[in-house]
Amino acid sequence: MKLSELTFRGKAALVTGGGSGIGRAIGLQIAGLGGRVCVADLDRDRAESLAAEICAMGGQSVGVQADVTRADAVERMVGAAREAFGRIDVLVNNAGGASGPTFRIGQVRKLTERDWDDTFTVNLKSVFLCVRAVAPLMLAQRGGSIVNMASLTGQFPFPGLPAYSAAKAGVISLTRSLAMELAPHVRVNALAPGLIETPRTSLNRRPEQLEQLLSNVPLARMGTPDEVANLAVYLASDAAAFVSGSVMDCAGGQMWMTQDGRPAFRDADRPG
Ligand SMILES: NC(=O)c1ccc[n+]([C@@H]2O[C@H](COP(=O)([O-])OP(=O)(O)OC[C@H]3O[C@@H](n4cnc5c(N)ncnc54)[C@H](O)[C@@H]3O)[C@@H](O)[C@H]2O)c1
Repeated sequence: MKLSELTFRGKAALVTGGGSGIGRAIGLQIAGLGGRVCVADLDRDRAESLAAEICAMGGQSVGVQADVTRADAVERMVGAAREAFGRIDVLVNNAGGASGPTFRIGQVRKLTERDWDDTFTVNLKSVFLCVRAVAPLMLAQRGGSIVNMASLTGQFPFPGLPAYSAAKAGVISLTRSLAMELAPHVRVNALAPGLIETPRTSLNRRPEQLEQLLSNVPLARMGTPDEVANLAVYLASDAAAFVSGSVMDCAGGQMWMTQDGRPAFRDADRPG
């Protein structure tokens, strides 16, 4: 398939953490290209309101409340998607994050065992649980594409985020293992976004923090959820039929994090 022919007509996608930010943008784009979309989210309202929005646009969608850290909930979520659409061609393991209602992030000396476990559970174990539940269906269909949301921090650890960085590095490694195990019928790829403007990243952020963060980004801005979704849609589609086991960055050229928070890329170095 050429990019100019890209379509999800006849296909069904399951997007976890689909009610907000990057996951929401991915669900909307796949629906816009004719795909049926199961929006799964911990937050029922978010999942159902996006599904309603897609249906109002003339698409086909269901919203499902699901906690992807729990095996029983994941099985129910996959059952609901199958019941709605009869198949799952695309799985986007997007749910995750660097903070949650019950756990904190931070330097290793300040992390509790619970913080560590919760970070790994929501970012890494969730991918295992969802793939374990969906892969048999994709293998039986003899086709499927899985996109895992890693992070730039999985490649270049962000100072002060050891658990999140290690969990996302695990997502990248798991992606490569799965790409080998599930070939040739199922493709598995990962995305590594850098700084993306979403409800989560804009929370409680001070302007000087943003300036400091952006000093590490050659393209000198945050990315948008749609810019990450563009890559997710490509990887999920038949246009990427020969791409598996890859990790695609969407990070504005960022390839490092400063150790001490000092700008690595100074304004004085920028042209103009
Ligand atoms: N925003 C960024 O800068 C950035 C950068 C790199 C990677 N990422 C990754 O992208 C993904 C999405 O991030 P975002 O910024 O769009 O976040 P977001 O907080 O805007 O959206 C995440 C969604 O996931 C849902 N969710 C959280 N825990 C869940 C669970 N246990 N089960 C089901 N749903 C759950 C939330 O309710 C929320 O709707 C995450 O995996 C994150 O680690 C984000």
